[in-house]
Amino acid sequence: MEIWIDTADINQIKEAYKWGIVSGVTTNPSLIVKAQKKYGISDFSMQKYILSIFEITKDDPVSLEVTSTDCEGMYNQAKNLHQTFSEYGKPVIKIPINPSEENKANYDGLIVTSRLAKEGILTNVTLGFTPEQALLAARAGATYFSPFLGREDDYIKNKELKHDNGITGGADLLENIMDVLNPYGFSTKVISASIRDISHVRNSAKAGAHIATIPFKILEEMAKHEKTAEGVKLFVEDSRKVPEYEALCNYSSS
Ligand code: E4P
Repeated sequence: MEIWIDTADINQIKEAYKWGIVSGVTTNPSLIVKAQKKYGISDFSMQKYILSIFEITKDDPVSLEVTSTDCEGMYNQAKNLHQTFSEYGKPVIKIPINPSEENKANYDGLIVTSRLAKEGILTNVTLGFTPEQALLAARAGATYFSPFLGREDDYIKNKELKHDNGITGGADLLENIMDVLNPYGFSTKVISASIRDISHVRNSAKAGAHIATIPFKILEEMAKHEKTAEGVKLFVEDSRKVPEYEALCNYSSS
């Protein structure tokens, strides 16, 4: 399973890339707001800021979400974002599967996705909450589909539901999506998103998600265990008792 970082915070992206474990970035408008507040992005341009993300990611995918909710608007924004950033890296355009239930735009996410797919523009169909949406996105030619595990858990809990359309939680949503898509050989890759804790990461890997996009705080938690730190302390203490071994470790033959 690939690990991507779920943030628009340039320092978090820089740091996680240093670890050598990240191969993509996902952003959304709420994450951009956070970054703007932290770095005062208006001081220099938003375009420059996003370009600084592409400088780190190089050829790795970076998801950027459209803000329009109708077909033409989403399509035009997708084309603009693609045009602005594709010479610097690999922009992936995030399209909500179903941008609005308030108007007739119910299916616009699919229309735009299939149009962009035909033009070779990479898409990440986002805000997924059912296996059926995943199937539609895959049929539309989505490059990626993002089910939101944490938000599905929250929805079921906050509404005190036993299940949502037969789905009992975020992990179950992902498992069902993998079961539905896997037999048919779709090229669409599933990005496990809205990850809130390390159990979501574990369950994503177990379910066979192609990618998990993970907030920086959870990447940090994944690396830690108090017994690891305790073990290192003991080994360092013991190594002081064998200076010969320490000398060997420090010996350079070049
Ligand atoms: C990623 O594609 C999503 O934008 C992100 O994972 C949403 O996470 P949240 O539910 O914690 O906001």
